[in-house]
Amino acid sequence: MTDFFRSKVHYKELIATFDDVLIQPGYTNFEPTNVDMSSQLGSYKFNLPIISAAMDTVTEELMAIKMALLGGLGVLHRNCSFERQLEMVRIVKRARSFVIDDVATIFPDEPVIKAKYMMENYNISGIVVVNEENKVCGIFTKRDIPFSEDDIKKGKVKSFMTKEVISIEPGASREKALEILFGSRKEKLPIIDKTGYLKGLITKKDLAPEFPLASMDSEGHLICALALSPKFPESTHSQELLKEIENYVDIFFIDVADFYKTSDINGTKKLMDFLDSDFVLGNIGTYEAAEHLITKGDFDEDKFIGIKVGMGSGSICTTSIQTGVGAPTLFATAQVADALADYNTKISLVADGGFKNPGDLPKAFTAGADLIMSGHFFAGSTESPGYVDTIQGRKVKIYRGMGSKEARTAGYVSDRYTEGSKMLPEGVSDYVPFVGDLDGVLLSLKEGLLNSMIYAGAKSITEMKKAKIGIISFSGQKESKPHNLLSRY
Ligand code: XMP
Repeated sequence: MTDFFRSKVHYKELIATFDDVLIQPGYTNFEPTNVDMSSQLGSYKFNLPIISAAMDTVTEELMAIKMALLGGLGVLHRNCSFERQLEMVRIVKRARSFVIDDVATIFPDEPVIKAKYMMENYNISGIVVVNEENKVCGIFTKRDIPFSEDDIKKGKVKSFMTKEVISIEPGASREKALEILFGSRKEKLPIIDKTGYLKGLITKKDLAPEFPLASMDSEGHLICALALSPKFPESTHSQELLKEIENYVDIFFIDVADFYKTSDINGTKKLMDFLDSDFVLGNIGTYEAAEHLITKGDFDEDKFIGIKVGMGSGSICTTSIQTGVGAPTLFATAQVADALADYNTKISLVADGGFKNPGDLPKAFTAGADLIMSGHFFAGSTESPGYVDTIQGRKVKIYRGMGSKEARTAGYVSDRYTEGSKMLPEGVSDYVPFVGDLDGVLLSLKEGLLNSMIYAGAKSITEMKKAKIGIISFSGQKESKPHNLLSRY
């Protein structure tokens, strides 16, 4: 840095971004298979520390489901009505589960033939037997069907059912369920509460990890996240809808370009009092903003699980050009990470936007991020909303900033930017190349991160935060890209 800059701002306030830095190589005493890239957002563990952005050309239900199945998270956008948001969160939450809520039951005095009929027609291998009070008193499986035709026609369920029901309590983990199922060699495990009522059913088949890295809650439903305006809804109807939405949402992401504002902070506090789910607040870009949220925000500590950072660095953003204000994601991450460490909080840090290459992800982790969020990487995938178009023989999809004129016409995101300023777009809309299925996109990001962690000598994201980072000179930047070849200068 020149003295000119030093006289105005100290070194840390050099507003550096991904291309300005490199991670220094470290000593590696482990194998690639020992690398653990999982990370925490509050109490939620993600096997892949990657989130798809809350944008209407990036994350609707299809993207959110696929991101969660592959170990990350998709934040459903807010450029739509509460009715549409309710529809999306319902679909995501109900997409997967190892707990069957709608369990087939039968009374003990009913005939065996009815149980047999139900099993054949519902394609199930067992039925829970409940008494008149609806309390569990047995289980009747295909193995309990008697041999004699006479018993099948005239016998009662109670004479052949298994009375000793091996069960599990509501809320028990997948691991606990697997332990009981394998220990008892059973196929089905009724969930019974302390008073004897049936609360669901777990089957061995549904516990099989088709997506072993999936981000799931304790019942095997996918973790569901939704973007929200910081404004408390005025109408009772909207408040009622929001309460219903909450039933399906684990984490709300307060979604504005600049959260360091009294009005947004106050609105969010009201929302946090009204809703029981967890909250990630953002975006902010500086140490001071983080310090303010931690020390003066007066947010419910248990619900305030994350801060999202980065301003004006997104590939579709024009905030910095239009306003001259911004906090590139790497700078914002380093600043906010310092504040979180200084105040010794448990709050997680999400670095949002500006990622161009897989190598930018590890730089964000080294600067202090717990998870990263991107729209750019995912907008061109099969799972993003919108159609695949063709321009000059190339397949493309539309990607638009939430502050673009096109996105604002939907009418829901004007409060994401400076309120009242409806004319000045702070984002653009453009085509991005179609990149195929999300699996492939995530695989290259994962491999970039894995190889980076090996070069840096970091086995985990926590160790990655201890890796050294340095500013790269202009010549160094040129040298770290392909150079001196016929087609590249
Ligand atoms: P990438 O680089 O992944 O960035 O395209 C996505 C992030 O950019 C933010 N975002 C915007 N910022 N004007 C802005 O200044 C916009 O129109 C806009 N739309 C999205 C957002 O934080 C997103 O996650």
